[in-house]
Amino acid sequence: MLESSHAPALANGIDAEFVKAVLHGLAQPKKTLPCRYFYDARGSDLFELITELPEYYLTRSEAALLEANAPEIAGRLSPDHVIVELGAGSSRKMDALLRLAPADITFVPIDVSRHALTEARSRLSAKLPRLIVRPVVDDFSTLDAFPVNLQHRKKLGFFLGSTIGNLHPKQASDMLHSWRQILGRDAELVIGVDLLKDERTLVNAYNDAAGVTALFNLNILARINHEIAPAFTLTSFQHRAFFNVRMSRIEMHLVSRVPQVVQMCGRSFRFAAGESIQTENSYKHSTSAFRSIVEGAGWRIGRMWTDGSFSLYHLV
Ligand code: TRP
Repeated sequence: MLESSHAPALANGIDAEFVKAVLHGLAQPKKTLPCRYFYDARGSDLFELITELPEYYLTRSEAALLEANAPEIAGRLSPDHVIVELGAGSSRKMDALLRLAPADITFVPIDVSRHALTEARSRLSAKLPRLIVRPVVDDFSTLDAFPVNLQHRKKLGFFLGSTIGNLHPKQASDMLHSWRQILGRDAELVIGVDLLKDERTLVNAYNDAAGVTALFNLNILARINHEIAPAFTLTSFQHRAFFNVRMSRIEMHLVSRVPQVVQMCGRSFRFAAGESIQTENSYKHSTSAFRSIVEGAGWRIGRMWTDGSFSLYHLV
């Protein structure tokens, strides 16, 4: 059994929150779709492929930084600690650290994808049989309490993959602030953050030559077609990613190739040719910009490790 703090599915199998979020996003003057819904089973698998792309340096940089610094991080752990991974996905990035942690430590991966958590648990149990894995199906961005009965134990949190960059800086700060309450005042948090760098490298990371990122982006429309109503013609939309210099972020869009009307749940959504649905932002923070987010949320940067391209921060 995986623990789950909410059961959104209705009797007809349609996720009411998903429907509401999609209809709301498409009704905006600038259309959007909520990025947490990228990660159904196919989306999670496609994202795993993204992490292996030659252009997507983020995962490799972060993995190398984690590997190199795992001994120091693990050195701070006692068997009583709880290791928490927020937005865990496959949890592969945690291997280096979990291998060095006390053998029967507790690991709580939290993710919206039940599929990814189930796979992660089988993989970890096979590799590290004494590790206590307690996966939780939940959305890290809306957590309001620590989801398993381990409140009194000291937490070491991990928030990897530059996922913090997918939030607007104000949201990022609010979330870090609330995690201080949820994880406990003596908690520590390791965060992976992509750095601001030359535009070409950034843009290529979200426009891979093999087109996997395009498939990943379009998969949110495929998911709507499967789970809500067959509303979108996938070939009528095109993946687009560019760097918005003023906002210091990569923006991901799905651009309508033609004028069209998309019908869903009795509503009509009109698209002009070239009109887009914004699906994701990926903010690129300099160290000073990230420091002000962290400090505004009541944390302090204890350590920072970087390869010049990506940074790992240890917050206390
Ligand atoms: N956290 C990842 C990032 O910002 C998520 C991501 C990578 C992503 N590629 C994507 C999200 C493409 C949407 C579309 O790098």
